[in-house]
Amino acid sequence: MRPRTIAVLLVVAAVAVVALLAGRPGGFRLAEPTPGAPSNQPSPANPAPTTNTSAQHKASAHSRITPSEPPLHTRDGCVKCHTGPGFVKQTSKAAEVSAQAIGCNDCHDFGGNKEGKLRIVGKATLPNNKAVEAGTAATCITCHNSRRNIDDPATLKEASAPHYAPQSELLLGTNAFEYPGTRYTNSVHTALADSCVTCHMAAAPGNPADAGGHSMRMKTKDGKENLNACRPCHPDLKSFDRTAYGDYDGDGTLEGVQTEVHGLLEKLEPEIARLAGAVKIGHAKGKIQFLDQAGKPVTTSDPKALQAAWNWLLVELDKSRGIHNPAYAVQVLQSTYKAVTGKDVPGAALR
Ligand code: HEC
Ligand code: HEC
Ligand code: HEC
Ligand code: HEC
Ligand code: HEC
Repeated sequence: MRPRTIAVLLVVAAVAVVALLAGRPGGFRLAEPTPGAPSNQPSPANPAPTTNTSAQHKASAHSRITPSEPPLHTRDGCVKCHTGPGFVKQTSKAAEVSAQAIGCNDCHDFGGNKEGKLRIVGKATLPNNKAVEAGTAATCITCHNSRRNIDDPATLKEASAPHYAPQSELLLGTNAFEYPGTRYTNSVHTALADSCVTCHMAAAPGNPADAGGHSMRMKTKDGKENLNACRPCHPDLKSFDRTAYGDYDGDGTLEGVQTEVHGLLEKLEPEIARLAGAVKIGHAKGKIQFLDQAGKPVTTSDPKALQAAWNWLLVELDKSRGIHNPAYAVQVLQSTYKAVTGKDVPGAALR
């Protein structure tokens, strides 16, 4: 069997096992920990997170308005996600909001009920109009997206770049420029119940303020990974950079998924930039911007260069280096390489 076939079979088998364990069709959140497996349930080594909510929230970037000039709370179009009041009102108009970051009563509605139910649960709609059932993660998806639709002709015409937060698109495997003739698939993470919340709000070992729970951070500020987020399903995992199912970047070594995806990003960048007579891909003021050797901006209206740069930025700005959806991230990068150079990534295991 080819390695790819083996990988696919492994995935299918594991999905079946997890689905059985979880006992919930369409979702993979493990309601009960697997006997004997480490879990993210409270225990003496890993106490309940309840006392830490405020400290965790304070440690997260949600508790500040993203620094920018002019300030984001004064700017139409930005306040819906960069201020709490803008999110509550779902308004783009700066005049309707005050300068407040994202607080408890913005994601939750504590008005009149102590439970503080989330304001947005269930269905969320992505910028390309794809609708998903995302449970509690509908809250996250409403803000963490690319803000633009690659299928809208205006996106390429105006050289628009994906916004800094395309995590939802990566996780759900959509809104890349998909080349005709390529079959795009998703890894299992796409189907996790409560999606983002399952990993980003899992209690971290030792219950630090700056990882897990309401910090929503996967790492402490000094770089320690919250592996409790993964271990209910991957009991032996030692690092987020889990050994990949193939040498996706073709460097001759089988590395972790994050290292493979990083390798692909590095290999692809100069190939795309070359189409525009440049050496690097950047973005500024919401537009794709290529850079030459001296760091000077180079503009192009070549759709092939812009489609490829959109894809590159989508994976780069996602920041998980593939973990959100290894299959889609790798396929998007490998198919973009082929479209740009006319050949497959040399020596690589293709997905
Ligand atoms: C109202 C919009 C909004 C919602 C809702 C939201 N986020 Fe964010 N999130 C942001 C913004 C804006 C930033 C970046 C702030 C900055 O860098 O100044 C951010 C940053 C983050 C970060 C980086 C954290 C850090 O401290 O560096 C993570 C991780 C994250 N969000 C995860 C989530 C998850 C998971 C959810 C759902 C439970 C969520 N977010 C809901 C707007 C939102
Ligand atoms: C649909 C929601 C949404 C809208 C609207 C939005 N942003 Fe963001 N933005 C985010 C999220 C979420 C992040 C955090 C991404 C992350 O941490 O990965 C972010 C990050 C940023 C960052 C990067 C912060 C950093 O430290 O890396 C800048 C700058 C920014 N936004 C500027 C803007 C501007 C300017 C506007 C208005 C023109 C705007 N945003 C509108 C959701 C949004
Ligand atoms: C960015 C959005 C966001 C912000 C801001 C936020 N929460 Fe939450 N909160 C959530 C989500 C998502 C859950 C998980 C819901 C679930 O699992 O059903 C949650 C869960 C909770 C719970 C249930 C128990 C638990 O900890 O899982 C409580 C209580 C709570 N939040 C209180 C607060 C308080 C107090 C603050 C402010 C310090 C706050 N939240 C800020 C999104 C948010
Ligand atoms: C399978 C677990 C998992 C799921 C599900 C998941 N994430 Fe992540 N996320 C990660 C990991 C792991 C990283 C990378 C951490 C690292 O290496 O720094 C990450 C990185 C991020 C970052 C960048 C954090 C930073 O430090 O700048 C943001 C923002 C983010 N995720 C938001 C989301 C959102 C929004 C969702 C849901 C649409 C989501 N994630 C779903 C595991 C997950
Ligand atoms: C609720 C269950 C669950 C959680 C939580 C979870 N995963 Fe997974 N993950 C799976 C399943 C099921 C698969 C498919 C079988 C396999 O590859 O082991 C998978 C696959 C993967 C793959 C390979 C995907 C591919 O297609 O190449 C990586 C890498 C991975 N997970 C990393 C992580 C990391 C890192 C975390 C924690 C941040 C995490 N997972 C959290 C269930 C989960």
